[in-house]
Formats: sequence, structure tokens, C-alpha cells
Amino acid sequence: MPDQDKTKDQIIEDLRNSVSLLHSILESTADGILVVNRDGKIVAYNQNFLDLWRIPQDIIESRDDDRALEYVLDQLKDPEGFLQKVRELYGEPDVESFDNLEFKDGRFFERYSKPQRIGEAAVGRVWSFRDVTERKRVEKALEDRTEALERSNKDLEQFAYVAAHDLREPLVAVGAYLKIIERLTKNTLEETGQRCIEKGINIVLRMDTMLRGLLSYSRVTLSSVELESTDSNSCLAQALSNLGLVIKKSGASVTNDSLPIVNSNAIQLVQVFQNLISNAIKYRGTDPLKVHVGLKSDDSEYQFSVNDNGIGIEPPCLERIFNMFERTGDLSGPSGTGIGLSTCRRIIERHRGRIWVESQPGRGSTFYFTLPKTRHVPAA
Ligand SMILES: Nc1ncnc2c1ncn2[C@@H]1O[C@H](COP(=O)(O)OP(=O)(O)O)[C@@H](O)[C@H]1O
Ligand SMILES: [Mg+2]
Repeated sequence: MPDQDKTKDQIIEDLRNSVSLLHSILESTADGILVVNRDGKIVAYNQNFLDLWRIPQDIIESRDDDRALEYVLDQLKDPEGFLQKVRELYGEPDVESFDNLEFKDGRFFERYSKPQRIGEAAVGRVWSFRDVTERKRVEKALEDRTEALERSNKDLEQFAYVAAHDLREPLVAVGAYLKIIERLTKNTLEETGQRCIEKGINIVLRMDTMLRGLLSYSRVTLSSVELESTDSNSCLAQALSNLGLVIKKSGASVTNDSLPIVNSNAIQLVQVFQNLISNAIKYRGTDPLKVHVGLKSDDSEYQFSVNDNGIGIEPPCLERIFNMFERTGDLSGPSGTGIGLSTCRRIIERHRGRIWVESQPGRGSTFYFTLPKTRHVPAA
């Protein structure tokens, strides 16, 4: 019904309804709400406003707005900053604003402020306050925990590096002494003794390989890598050249698709190709070895693959082989340390990519890894 057709009683009834609705809304929100007029005089507030700000009833009932304001300011860590904002907003009645308030007792509020309008004109301002102390506490606890974890990870990585580095020194010395004994006793020691010395030397060599593996793994983790435009063809070529002798000896034929320019660390990308191709050679079957380095891409990433026709990997081991020191299959076969693939995984993850393997035991394996196309910062 148009307003002019309403009786006075109906209009009063409508108004009472509106006021009651407004009151219910004001009191049912979890936020503390305060409404002031253009002169900054308090015109309305809800109970939550009093509770959140812990304003005594007598102060608010005294209608002494200055005292109320003083009470509010007294609780804040930066009362001047808040007052400044309030003054600014009184000068700009049409502006909406938001900020955070920090309390002396450790609480945090979010503050919103919107003009109250009648038609076009701003006649006052609504302030609302939300207690976010608990949320901030949880955020802070999470942040602290992440920081502590990162620190302890870094410490562990540093520890692994130092331990591997320092352990090599006495080990190399033991190896050298064993070699001297081997030479000195060559003509006098019986065969069993000579074999023991030989075994000892081999164990020392093996342990040294492991320590060097650990060192190179730690280096990936500890060094801050620069990612830059890198021609992955050159990285593959470098890896093949480093493996030149082994490739020749194995009679492997290595082919490749044309590879892209990627955002990566060249030294580490060489390491990945080298590890994957040397595994293909190490774990080859009886057929002449064929290795192919392939490429696929979609909008967001490049997917590299290194395929071989070697001995393959049993399904239960497909995940495990990427773990540190994890080796599978016939361990009396080709010797290794089980660090190569964990290093590859670490490198690819730092490039924000993924690495995995698919394999048919007895027929061959394909290792896949991805590199994102967008420029990105290395992962920690
Ligand atoms: N191309 C491959 N074909 C078959 N098995 C593989 C291949 N690459 C890796 N593996 C398996 O994964 C294990 C872990 O590899 P890696 O971390 O490089 O260690 P390592 O080469 O020192 O043994 C290897 O011991 C082997 O069992
Ligand atoms: Mg390996």
C-alpha cells in the first residue's frame, strides 16, 4: 500500500516494526556496533560493543562521549593512530574504511566503518568491531611452528652436511692405511688375509661413495638456487658428456626429443638427467639398451620423460625408490647408494615440479618429471 494511503496508526505500526527489526539485528550480531552522528555524538550501540570494549555502563549512560572515547583509547597500543583515523573519517563522511586494532592486553580487533546515509546524504557513521584475538593466536602459533620446523630442518640438513663432510676425512685415511698394508703384505700375507684387506678397501670405497652422495644431496638443500632461463638441450648434452665413458662401455643408444628453454638451475638439471640416465645404464637388462628422453607439454608445465628397456621396477617399490638410501631389486647386482633419486626428487621439488616413475618389470621403466612454465621462485 502506498504510504499516503496509510492511516497514522498503520504508519506508527510499520515504524515500530522497523525499529524492532533493526534492534534485533543490532543485538544478534557477534560484532560490536556503534553509530555516531556527523558531529561524532553517539546515537546507538549494541551490547556487544560495550562488552568487547569493556565499557562500564555508567560511562556510556553518562552520555559523555569524550569519557567513552578516552576509555576506548586507553586500551589501545596505538591510541594516537586510532584517533588520527577517527578524525580523518569525520572529515570524509562518505568514505568506508577498515583496519586492525591492537590492544595493550594482547587482544586484536578488526574495525570496519561505513557511512550511514539518508538518501544521498551521509548523516553519520557506523563503526563495527570484531574480536579476532583467537584467530590471530592460531595464525601466530601456526607461523611460529612453521618457522621452528623450517629452522630445525635447516639445522638437520646442516648437520647431515657437516657430518658427511667430516666423516670423509678419517674414512679416507683408513682407506689409505689399508692400501699401505695391502702393498706391504702383498708377498707375505696368505690369501684369506689379502681378501680381507681387499674387502675392507671396498667397504671404505662404498662408504665414501655414500658420504659423497649425502654431500651432494645436502648441497641441493642448503644452496640457495638461482632459477634462470636454461636450455634443457644443453643440460642433457652436458649430462651425456659426463657419462660419455659409461655410455660407450654399455653400448647404450640415447635419443631425445627437442627440449625447451626452462626456468631452472642448469647445474641441478644436469644432475637430474645424469642420475636418471646413469640409472638406466646401471639397471639395464640383457637386450641392447635404448634410452629415450622425451617431452610433452601443456599450458602450465613441461613434462620430461626418461625411458629405458631395462630390468624395470616391481610395483610395490615405485614410490619407495625416491627415498634416501632406498634400493630395490637384486642388491648383489649393480652397486649404488640409493641417494640418486632422492636428490632428483629434492631438485625437482625445489623447482616446484613433480617426479614419478612408471614401470613394467622385465621390460623397462619411464621416469617422468615436470617443470612449471611460469617463472617462479624456488621452494625452500
Ligand atoms: N632405470 C631404472 N630401472 C630399474 N630400477 C631403477 C632404475 N632407476 C632406479 N632404479 C631403482 O631405484 C633404486 C634407487 O635409485 P637411486 O636412488 O638412483 O640409487 P642407486 O642408483 O644408488 O641404487 C635403485 O637401487 C634401483 O633399484
Ligand atoms: Mg642412481
